[in-house]
Amino acid sequence: MKSIGGEFELDPVALASSATLPLGLRADARQQWLRSGRGAIRYAAATSRPTGTWLLPSYLCESVKQPFDELGCPVQFYRINDDARIDVAHLQAQITRYQPVGLLFINYFGMPLLPDEQQAIDDARKYGCFIIEDATHGSVLEGDDAPAGRLGDAVVSSLRKYLPVPDGALLRIKNPSSLGSNASLAPDLAAEAFGRQRTLAKLLRWEFLHGAGGPPEAEGLFMTMFSQAEKLLDASGVPYPASPWSAPVLAAQDLTAARAQRRLNFAALAEAWQHSDLARWATPLYTTLPAGASPFAFPVLVSPPLRDDLRRALVREQLYCPVLWPLPEAIDTNEFASSYHLSARIMCLPLDQRYTSEDMQDVARRFGQTARQLGPL
Ligand SMILES: Cc1ncc(COP(=O)(O)O)c(C=O)c1O
Repeated sequence: MKSIGGEFELDPVALASSATLPLGLRADARQQWLRSGRGAIRYAAATSRPTGTWLLPSYLCESVKQPFDELGCPVQFYRINDDARIDVAHLQAQITRYQPVGLLFINYFGMPLLPDEQQAIDDARKYGCFIIEDATHGSVLEGDDAPAGRLGDAVVSSLRKYLPVPDGALLRIKNPSSLGSNASLAPDLAAEAFGRQRTLAKLLRWEFLHGAGGPPEAEGLFMTMFSQAEKLLDASGVPYPASPWSAPVLAAQDLTAARAQRRLNFAALAEAWQHSDLARWATPLYTTLPAGASPFAFPVLVSPPLRDDLRRALVREQLYCPVLWPLPEAIDTNEFASSYHLSARIMCLPLDQRYTSEDMQDVARRFGQTARQLGPL
Protein backbone atom coordinates (compact mmCIF):
# COMPACT_ATOMS: atom_id res chain seq x y z
CA MET A 1 0.00 0.00 0.00
CA LYS A 2 1.30 3.48 -0.88
CA SER A 3 2.19 5.58 2.14
CA ILE A 4 0.45 8.98 1.89
CA GLY A 5 1.43 12.01 3.97
CA GLY A 6 4.10 12.62 6.57
CA GLU A 7 7.40 14.47 6.22
CA PHE A 8 8.58 15.17 2.70
CA GLU A 9 11.26 12.73 1.64
CA LEU A 10 14.34 14.14 -0.14
CA ASP A 11 15.50 12.75 -3.46
CA PRO A 12 19.34 12.85 -3.32
CA VAL A 13 19.32 14.06 -6.93
CA ALA A 14 17.96 17.41 -5.71
CA LEU A 15 21.07 17.88 -3.54
CA ALA A 16 23.25 17.54 -6.60
CA SER A 17 21.17 20.00 -8.60
CA SER A 18 23.10 22.76 -10.32
CA ALA A 19 19.95 24.88 -10.62
CA THR A 20 20.18 28.33 -9.09
CA LEU A 21 17.38 30.20 -7.42
CA PRO A 22 15.38 32.28 -9.89
CA LEU A 23 15.79 36.02 -9.53
CA GLY A 24 12.52 36.44 -7.63
CA LEU A 25 13.68 34.01 -4.93
CA ARG A 26 17.17 35.33 -4.28
CA ALA A 27 18.00 36.95 -0.96
CA ASP A 28 18.14 40.74 -0.97
CA ALA A 29 17.09 43.64 1.24
CA ARG A 30 13.43 42.64 0.94
CA GLN A 31 13.83 38.91 1.24
CA GLN A 32 15.82 36.61 3.49
CA TRP A 33 16.10 32.86 3.93
CA LEU A 34 16.10 31.73 7.52
CA ARG A 35 16.25 28.30 9.08
CA SER A 36 12.72 28.14 10.50
CA GLY A 37 9.37 29.88 10.47
CA ARG A 38 9.64 30.73 14.15
CA GLY A 39 13.13 32.17 13.58
CA ALA A 40 11.72 34.36 10.79
CA ILE A 41 8.87 35.55 13.05
CA ARG A 42 11.33 36.27 15.83
CA TYR A 43 13.62 38.18 13.48
CA ALA A 44 10.70 40.27 12.14
CA ALA A 45 9.41 41.02 15.66
CA ALA A 46 12.85 41.72 17.15
CA THR A 47 13.83 44.10 14.38
CA SER A 48 10.48 45.92 14.11
CA ARG A 49 8.93 46.13 17.60
CA PRO A 50 11.22 44.37 20.11
CA THR A 51 9.25 45.61 23.12
CA GLY A 52 5.55 45.98 23.80
CA THR A 53 2.51 43.75 23.48
CA TRP A 54 1.86 41.64 20.39
CA LEU A 55 -1.58 40.45 19.36
CA LEU A 56 -1.78 36.87 18.09
CA PRO A 57 -4.67 34.75 16.76
CA SER A 58 -6.22 32.33 19.28
CA TYR A 59 -5.90 29.56 16.70
CA LEU A 60 -2.16 28.92 16.43
CA CYS A 61 0.54 26.42 17.33
CA GLU A 62 3.08 26.73 20.12
CA SER A 63 5.84 27.46 17.60
CA VAL A 64 4.17 30.71 16.50
CA LYS A 65 3.99 31.91 20.10
CA GLN A 66 7.54 30.74 20.93
CA PRO A 67 9.35 33.70 19.29
CA PHE A 68 7.46 36.23 21.40
CA ASP A 69 8.08 34.24 24.60
CA GLU A 70 11.77 34.09 23.75
CA LEU A 71 11.88 37.85 23.17
CA GLY A 72 10.03 38.47 26.42
CA CYS A 73 7.21 40.28 24.59
CA PRO A 74 3.80 40.07 26.30
CA VAL A 75 1.13 38.53 24.04
CA GLN A 76 -2.64 38.82 23.90
CA PHE A 77 -4.98 36.92 21.61
CA TYR A 78 -7.86 37.76 19.28
CA ARG A 79 -10.58 35.22 18.60
CA ILE A 80 -10.63 32.89 15.61
CA ASN A 81 -14.07 31.39 14.91
CA ASP A 82 -14.66 27.70 14.31
CA ASP A 83 -14.61 28.30 10.54
CA ALA A 84 -10.99 29.55 10.87
CA ARG A 85 -12.08 33.16 10.24
CA ILE A 86 -11.13 36.17 12.37
CA ASP A 87 -13.74 37.42 14.83
CA VAL A 88 -13.37 40.94 13.53
CA ALA A 89 -15.27 42.67 16.36
CA HIS A 90 -13.07 40.91 18.93
CA LEU A 91 -9.89 41.84 17.06
CA GLN A 92 -10.95 45.49 17.04
CA ALA A 93 -11.82 45.36 20.75
CA GLN A 94 -8.44 43.78 21.60
CA ILE A 95 -6.57 46.47 19.65
CA THR A 96 -8.39 49.20 21.57
CA ARG A 97 -7.87 47.41 24.87
CA TYR A 98 -4.19 46.46 24.61
CA GLN A 99 -2.81 48.95 22.07
CA PRO A 100 -0.41 46.34 20.72
CA VAL A 101 2.81 47.27 18.94
CA GLY A 102 2.36 44.41 16.51
CA LEU A 103 -0.16 41.95 15.17
CA LEU A 104 0.35 38.54 13.59
CA PHE A 105 -2.21 36.81 11.43
CA ILE A 106 -2.17 33.45 9.66
CA ASN A 107 -3.45 32.67 6.18
CA TYR A 108 -4.99 29.41 7.29
CA PHE A 109 -4.49 26.82 4.56
CA GLY A 110 -3.30 29.51 2.18
CA MET A 111 -6.79 30.96 1.90
CA PRO A 112 -7.22 34.71 1.35
CA LEU A 113 -8.82 36.80 4.08
CA LEU A 114 -12.39 37.98 3.58
CA PRO A 115 -12.81 41.73 2.93
CA ASP A 116 -13.87 42.52 6.52
CA GLU A 117 -10.87 40.58 7.89
CA GLN A 118 -8.55 42.50 5.55
CA GLN A 119 -10.08 45.79 6.59
CA ALA A 120 -9.59 44.99 10.28
CA ILE A 121 -5.91 44.12 9.67
CA ASP A 122 -5.42 47.33 7.70
CA ASP A 123 -7.06 49.33 10.47
CA ALA A 124 -4.58 47.84 12.98
CA ARG A 125 -1.80 49.43 10.94
CA LYS A 126 -3.44 52.82 11.50
CA TYR A 127 -2.87 52.30 15.22
CA GLY A 128 0.83 51.84 14.52
CA CYS A 129 0.85 48.04 14.61
CA PHE A 130 3.56 46.23 12.67
CA ILE A 131 1.84 43.40 10.78
CA ILE A 132 3.39 39.93 10.40
CA GLU A 133 1.56 37.72 7.92
CA ASP A 134 2.18 34.01 8.36
CA ALA A 135 1.76 32.27 5.01
CA THR A 136 3.17 28.90 6.02
CA HIS A 137 0.19 26.94 4.71
CA GLY A 138 1.06 27.37 1.07
CA SER A 139 0.41 29.76 -1.79
CA VAL A 140 3.09 32.33 -1.26
CA LEU A 141 6.01 31.27 -3.43
CA GLU A 142 4.38 29.66 -6.36
CA GLY A 143 2.92 32.52 -8.32
CA ASP A 144 2.48 36.28 -8.46
CA ASP A 145 -1.27 35.88 -8.09
CA ALA A 146 -1.00 34.01 -4.76
CA PRO A 147 -3.66 35.42 -2.43
CA ALA A 148 -1.50 34.93 0.68
CA GLY A 149 1.43 37.18 1.49
CA ARG A 150 -0.05 40.46 0.31
CA LEU A 151 -0.97 42.32 3.47
CA GLY A 152 1.86 41.96 5.95
CA ASP A 153 4.66 44.43 6.63
CA ALA A 154 6.60 41.18 6.98
CA VAL A 155 5.55 37.88 5.40
CA VAL A 156 6.80 34.56 6.75
CA SER A 157 6.53 31.09 5.25
CA SER A 158 8.12 27.94 6.66
CA LEU A 159 8.92 26.03 3.50
CA ARG A 160 9.61 22.61 4.99
CA LYS A 161 5.88 22.20 5.55
CA TYR A 162 5.15 22.03 1.83
CA LEU A 163 8.44 21.49 -0.01
CA PRO A 164 11.15 18.81 0.40
CA VAL A 165 13.72 21.30 1.76
CA PRO A 166 15.46 20.14 4.96
CA ASP A 167 14.98 23.61 6.45
CA GLY A 168 14.31 27.13 5.31
CA ALA A 169 11.77 29.85 5.82
CA LEU A 170 11.07 32.86 3.69
CA LEU A 171 10.96 36.29 5.27
CA ARG A 172 9.73 39.07 2.97
CA ILE A 173 9.86 42.62 4.22
CA LYS A 174 7.71 45.22 2.53
CA ASN A 175 9.77 48.20 3.59
CA PRO A 176 13.31 47.30 4.73
CA SER A 177 13.71 50.64 6.49
CA SER A 178 10.86 49.63 8.85
CA LEU A 179 13.28 47.16 10.47
CA GLY A 180 16.10 48.12 12.82
CA SER A 181 19.31 46.14 12.93
CA ASN A 182 19.16 44.77 16.46
CA ALA A 183 18.95 41.11 15.47
CA SER A 184 21.78 39.43 13.66
CA LEU A 185 21.86 36.13 11.86
CA ALA A 186 24.74 33.97 12.98
CA PRO A 187 25.11 30.27 12.24
CA ASP A 188 25.81 28.01 15.21
CA LEU A 189 26.34 24.31 15.76
CA ALA A 190 22.82 23.56 16.95
CA ALA A 191 21.39 25.27 13.87
CA GLU A 192 23.53 23.17 11.60
CA ALA A 193 22.57 19.99 13.49
CA PHE A 194 18.92 20.77 12.75
CA GLY A 195 19.55 21.01 9.01
CA ARG A 196 21.89 18.01 9.00
CA GLN A 197 19.61 15.73 11.00
CA ARG A 198 16.64 16.55 8.82
CA THR A 199 18.64 16.07 5.63
CA LEU A 200 19.77 12.63 6.73
CA ALA A 201 16.27 11.68 7.88
CA LYS A 202 14.72 12.85 4.61
CA LEU A 203 17.26 10.96 2.50
CA LEU A 204 16.59 7.85 4.56
CA ARG A 205 12.85 8.26 4.10
CA TRP A 206 13.34 8.64 0.35
CA GLU A 207 15.35 5.41 0.23
CA PHE A 208 12.70 3.69 2.36
CA LEU A 209 9.80 4.82 0.14
CA HIS A 210 11.31 4.91 -3.35
CA GLY A 211 14.73 3.22 -3.25
CA ALA A 212 16.02 -0.13 -2.11
CA GLY A 213 14.08 0.12 1.16
CA GLY A 214 17.03 0.01 3.53
CA PRO A 215 17.16 -1.98 6.76
CA PRO A 216 13.90 -2.80 8.60
CA GLU A 217 14.77 -0.37 11.35
CA ALA A 218 15.07 2.54 8.85
CA GLU A 219 11.54 3.81 9.51
CA GLY A 220 12.03 4.05 13.27
CA LEU A 221 15.37 5.72 12.70
CA PHE A 222 14.17 8.54 10.49
CA MET A 223 11.14 9.13 12.70
CA THR A 224 13.47 9.51 15.71
CA MET A 225 15.76 11.84 13.78
CA PHE A 226 12.83 14.05 12.73
CA SER A 227 11.62 14.31 16.29
CA GLN A 228 15.13 15.01 17.65
CA ALA A 229 15.52 17.81 15.13
CA GLU A 230 12.16 19.24 16.18
CA LYS A 231 13.33 19.31 19.80
CA LEU A 232 16.33 21.42 18.78
CA LEU A 233 13.97 23.98 17.31
CA ASP A 234 11.58 23.87 20.27
CA ALA A 235 14.56 24.56 22.53
CA SER A 236 15.58 27.67 20.60
CA GLY A 237 13.93 29.66 17.85
CA VAL A 238 16.93 31.98 17.46
CA PRO A 239 17.01 33.25 13.88
CA TYR A 240 19.73 31.52 11.91
CA PRO A 241 20.18 31.40 8.17
CA ALA A 242 18.87 28.39 6.28
CA SER A 243 21.40 25.62 5.76
CA PRO A 244 23.36 26.17 2.52
CA TRP A 245 22.12 22.97 0.89
CA SER A 246 18.45 23.95 1.17
CA ALA A 247 18.94 26.53 -1.61
CA PRO A 248 19.82 24.01 -4.35
CA VAL A 249 16.96 21.78 -3.20
CA LEU A 250 14.58 24.73 -3.45
CA ALA A 251 16.03 25.72 -6.83
CA ALA A 252 15.41 22.18 -8.11
CA GLN A 253 11.65 22.39 -7.36
CA ASP A 254 9.11 23.12 -10.06
CA LEU A 255 7.01 25.47 -7.95
CA THR A 256 4.44 26.15 -10.67
CA ALA A 257 3.84 22.43 -11.16
CA ALA A 258 3.64 21.91 -7.39
CA ARG A 259 0.92 24.52 -7.09
CA ALA A 260 -1.02 23.11 -10.04
CA GLN A 261 -0.87 19.61 -8.57
CA ARG A 262 -2.01 20.75 -5.12
CA ARG A 263 -4.95 22.54 -6.72
CA LEU A 264 -5.88 19.46 -8.74
CA ASN A 265 -5.64 17.31 -5.63
CA PHE A 266 -7.80 19.72 -3.64
CA ALA A 267 -10.43 19.59 -6.39
CA ALA A 268 -10.28 15.77 -6.43
CA LEU A 269 -10.91 15.57 -2.67
CA ALA A 270 -13.66 18.22 -2.75
CA GLU A 271 -15.36 16.25 -5.51
CA ALA A 272 -14.96 12.96 -3.65
CA TRP A 273 -16.78 14.55 -0.71
CA GLN A 274 -19.50 15.94 -2.96
CA HIS A 275 -20.27 12.64 -4.63
CA SER A 276 -20.18 10.28 -1.67
CA ASP A 277 -21.45 9.81 1.87
CA LEU A 278 -18.14 10.95 3.43
CA ALA A 279 -19.86 14.04 4.85
CA ARG A 280 -21.59 11.73 7.34
CA TRP A 281 -18.31 11.58 9.24
CA ALA A 282 -16.33 14.60 8.16
CA THR A 283 -17.15 18.11 6.94
CA PRO A 284 -14.59 19.86 4.74
CA LEU A 285 -13.49 23.20 6.18
CA TYR A 286 -13.29 24.60 2.63
CA THR A 287 -15.24 23.39 -0.38
CA THR A 288 -13.97 25.81 -3.01
CA LEU A 289 -10.54 27.02 -3.99
CA PRO A 290 -10.05 30.75 -4.67
CA ALA A 291 -7.79 31.71 -7.61
CA GLY A 292 -4.11 31.22 -6.87
CA ALA A 293 -4.62 29.42 -3.54
CA SER A 294 -2.88 26.06 -3.14
CA PRO A 295 -3.24 24.73 0.40
CA PHE A 296 -0.83 22.05 1.58
CA ALA A 297 -3.63 19.95 3.09
CA PHE A 298 -7.39 19.38 2.95
CA PRO A 299 -8.77 20.07 6.42
CA VAL A 300 -11.93 18.27 7.49
CA LEU A 301 -13.87 18.47 10.75
CA VAL A 302 -14.72 15.28 12.61
CA SER A 303 -16.47 15.24 15.97
CA PRO A 304 -14.61 13.82 18.96
CA PRO A 305 -13.93 11.08 19.91
CA LEU A 306 -14.17 9.73 16.34
CA ARG A 307 -11.50 12.19 15.13
CA ASP A 308 -8.71 10.63 17.20
CA ASP A 309 -9.89 7.04 16.60
CA LEU A 310 -9.95 7.71 12.89
CA ARG A 311 -6.47 9.23 12.82
CA ARG A 312 -5.04 6.25 14.68
CA ALA A 313 -6.79 3.75 12.40
CA LEU A 314 -5.67 5.63 9.30
CA VAL A 315 -2.03 5.35 10.36
CA ARG A 316 -2.52 1.58 10.03
CA GLU A 317 -3.77 2.32 6.50
CA GLN A 318 -0.59 4.34 5.89
CA LEU A 319 -2.53 7.58 5.62
CA TYR A 320 -1.08 10.28 7.88
CA CYS A 321 -3.46 13.10 8.85
CA PRO A 322 -2.00 15.65 11.26
CA VAL A 323 -3.99 17.79 13.68
CA LEU A 324 -3.23 21.43 12.95
CA TRP A 325 -3.15 22.29 15.78
CA PRO A 326 -3.40 21.27 19.41
CA LEU A 327 -3.59 24.73 21.03
CA PRO A 328 -0.96 26.13 23.41
CA GLU A 329 -1.88 26.11 27.10
CA ALA A 330 -1.93 29.90 27.09
CA ILE A 331 -5.20 29.86 25.11
CA ASP A 332 -8.04 29.98 27.62
CA THR A 333 -10.62 27.28 26.85
CA ASN A 334 -13.60 29.42 27.83
CA GLU A 335 -12.57 32.71 26.35
CA PHE A 336 -11.57 31.09 23.06
CA ALA A 337 -14.16 28.31 22.90
CA SER A 338 -14.53 28.47 19.10
CA SER A 339 -10.82 27.93 18.53
CA TYR A 340 -10.96 24.99 20.93
CA HIS A 341 -13.92 23.58 19.08
CA LEU A 342 -11.99 23.84 15.81
CA SER A 343 -8.85 22.32 17.32
CA ALA A 344 -10.79 19.37 18.76
CA ARG A 345 -12.38 18.50 15.40
CA ILE A 346 -9.83 19.30 12.71
CA MET A 347 -7.72 16.73 10.87
CA CYS A 348 -5.79 17.43 7.70
CA LEU A 349 -5.72 15.07 4.73
CA PRO A 350 -2.47 15.20 2.75
CA LEU A 351 -2.83 16.51 -0.81
CA ASP A 352 0.60 17.85 -1.62
CA GLN A 353 2.43 17.64 -4.94
CA ARG A 354 3.93 14.22 -4.22
CA TYR A 355 0.51 12.76 -5.02
CA THR A 356 -1.80 12.54 -8.01
CA SER A 357 -5.57 12.91 -8.36
CA GLU A 358 -5.75 9.09 -8.41
CA ASP A 359 -3.96 9.03 -5.05
CA MET A 360 -6.66 11.39 -3.79
CA GLN A 361 -9.35 8.88 -4.83
CA ASP A 362 -7.40 6.41 -2.74
CA VAL A 363 -7.27 8.83 0.20
CA ALA A 364 -11.07 9.24 0.03
CA ARG A 365 -11.52 5.48 -0.26
CA ARG A 366 -9.25 4.66 2.72
CA PHE A 367 -10.93 7.42 4.74
CA GLY A 368 -14.46 6.19 3.95
CA GLN A 369 -13.63 2.55 4.54
CA THR A 370 -12.02 3.26 7.89
CA ALA A 371 -14.81 5.62 9.03
CA ARG A 372 -17.43 3.01 8.13
CA GLN A 373 -15.62 0.36 10.18
CA LEU A 374 -15.27 2.64 13.18
CA GLY A 375 -18.60 4.39 13.53
CA PRO A 376 -22.19 3.11 13.33
CA LEU A 377 -23.20 6.60 12.15
C1 LIG B 1 1.38 28.58 10.61
C2 LIG B 1 2.76 28.26 11.11
N1 LIG B 1 3.65 29.26 11.20
C3 LIG B 1 4.91 29.05 11.64
C4 LIG B 1 5.32 27.79 12.03
C5 LIG B 1 6.72 27.61 12.54
O1 LIG B 1 7.52 27.10 11.53
P1 LIG B 1 8.87 26.33 11.94
O2 LIG B 1 8.47 25.01 12.50
O3 LIG B 1 9.65 26.24 10.67
O4 LIG B 1 9.53 27.17 12.95
C6 LIG B 1 4.42 26.73 11.97
C7 LIG B 1 4.84 25.39 12.41
O5 LIG B 1 4.11 24.46 12.45
C8 LIG B 1 3.11 26.96 11.49
O6 LIG B 1 2.22 25.96 11.39
